[in-house]
Amino acid sequence: MFRTATCGELRLADADKQVTLAGWVQKVRNLGAMIFIDLRDRYGITQITVDEHAAAEVKAVAESLGREYVVQVTGWVAERSAKNPKMETGEVEILAEAIRVLNVSEVPPFTIEENSDGGDDLRMKYRYLDLRRAPLQRAMMLRHRLAQQVRRYLDEKGFMEIETPYLIKSTPEGARDFVVPSRMNLGEFYALPQSPQTFKQLLMVSGYDRYFQIVRCFRDEDLRADRQPEFTQVDCEMAFVEREDVLEVFEGMMRTMFAQTLGVTFESDRFPRMSWTEAMERYGSDKPDIRFGMEFNDMTAWVKGHDFVVFDGAEYVGGICVPGCASYTRKQLDGLTEFVKRPQVGAKGLVYVRREADGSYKSSVDKFYAQEDLAAWGERVGMQPGDLLLILAGAKKQTLAALCALRLEMGDRLGLRPHDTFAPLWVVDFPLLEWDDETQRYYAMHHPFTSPKTEDMEKFFSGDMRALGDVRAEAYDFVVNGVEVGGGSIRIHDGEVQSRMFEVLGFTPEEAQAQFGFLLGAFKYGAPPHGGIAFGFDRMCSLFGGSDSIRDFIAFPKNNSGRDMMIDAPSPLAASQLDELQIAVAKPEA
Ligand code: AMO
Repeated sequence: MFRTATCGELRLADADKQVTLAGWVQKVRNLGAMIFIDLRDRYGITQITVDEHAAAEVKAVAESLGREYVVQVTGWVAERSAKNPKMETGEVEILAEAIRVLNVSEVPPFTIEENSDGGDDLRMKYRYLDLRRAPLQRAMMLRHRLAQQVRRYLDEKGFMEIETPYLIKSTPEGARDFVVPSRMNLGEFYALPQSPQTFKQLLMVSGYDRYFQIVRCFRDEDLRADRQPEFTQVDCEMAFVEREDVLEVFEGMMRTMFAQTLGVTFESDRFPRMSWTEAMERYGSDKPDIRFGMEFNDMTAWVKGHDFVVFDGAEYVGGICVPGCASYTRKQLDGLTEFVKRPQVGAKGLVYVRREADGSYKSSVDKFYAQEDLAAWGERVGMQPGDLLLILAGAKKQTLAALCALRLEMGDRLGLRPHDTFAPLWVVDFPLLEWDDETQRYYAMHHPFTSPKTEDMEKFFSGDMRALGDVRAEAYDFVVNGVEVGGGSIRIHDGEVQSRMFEVLGFTPEEAQAQFGFLLGAFKYGAPPHGGIAFGFDRMCSLFGGSDSIRDFIAFPKNNSGRDMMIDAPSPLAASQLDELQIAVAKPEA
């Protein structure tokens, strides 16, 4: 046996036992008469002590040890005189009798401890070393536990785990595909799935009425803290269901995970449901963080006709009332103006109104508005003395988005968005279609398989192109703390509705047949009513792990340019490989 105990398990009750441990040397402290070694494995750290009674050869080996050497130590568990309450094993030490070096190590490029001295890039390059650190090991363990909980819950509910292929034909989920050339079919390409969407729907046609899969998805899109080019979904589909049946099963799953992982339970027996329209009007976002107020006030109708051109010319003027921030200095307000003018936020400027302690109002637009005007606004938005009203104006869509960013920023500054409080909700009734001015056509807001709401079916089939923009979808997102954790819909299961959808999206019948013939074909053979959802599993992990970045919960993630710094991918192919695939790479222009 290599070891009789791990580095995380020995306690005072084990005193006087002879044990053998194996692990990595985190640190060696040589005090001359005594040598202390911190020995680490996945389970923890145990102090090994080589004292004056140790044999000369044991001392010699201990003196030769470097960081990250792999060693096996046999010795006796003893009570420590200087206990370390910060360590789980801090009451004991192992008095070494024998130390065997199992492998040596070069000096690692950064310290492998709770907090490392290595920068991001270096740690990504040596990810296998970073993964030795306790924070990453905790993250991997959390991910493992969450995956087990998902499997257990869904298995108990009768879901079957079925794998679907990775080499497929493009599925339209809105991002670009990663493509794979086929050697056996020269000039032809597979696409890696953006999700198993069409396959899970085909499984419903095949009668597997409760399917799930913890599955990798691939999307070639711009990366952010909560996006990776390959990520994992908990992908689910059910037949013979309506929206509420789906929401109930998956609300149950999320509740179970919150309870089992964090011990968090929720008072209400139903997560709130908010329509997309309401979410946009109150929070300017389809993924609102509803843990705090500062809801939007549509001020458009109140502010016009005072010769202030910014407001007079604006499609939308909206304000949020920030409690207790009237004392913001000129500099702080300038800082906020800078914030809203950032390209990612996109506002042109910021108007503020402060309500002073004496109840009077002061604003950056005093030139145009009298005290009574400001007081009328203040009253309508519920401003108390000491509050600050922040106002943005412009085109509606952009201004809602900018005001949303400002609201979240203020929420962060006021400490209203901690990692240990959770406000889940379902956002429902999304628009079915989104109009794109540039290409002058509609796009599916979720994906082309999402069913219009029954009430809106007539509008959907009417020839009125403009009315199509008002058709609502039977689509839903699961949102927590401003993060879209999952999304899904009730699907179209009728060939005629599906054909109309493709038509609305600008496909000719021939194009629809060429791309989705298999699905339209399947719908001719008895497709049951069905619907489903997919959760972003990496996002679930970061939510439960209290981090904004999903990278920390992926063993081998890509960086922001989509590179794996460790294996150095992507990389050029050898000429012979390209020849075999009959692919010529155009030289990048000089
Ligand atoms: P959707 O595209 O909304 O739906 O994706 C579902 C969930 O997957 C997560 N997600 C991502 N996570 C990390 N990196 C990414 N690049 C990324 N993109 C998406 C999000 C999102 O809510 N087939 C449909 C689901 C369905 O209709 O059943 C789909 O994929 O958390």
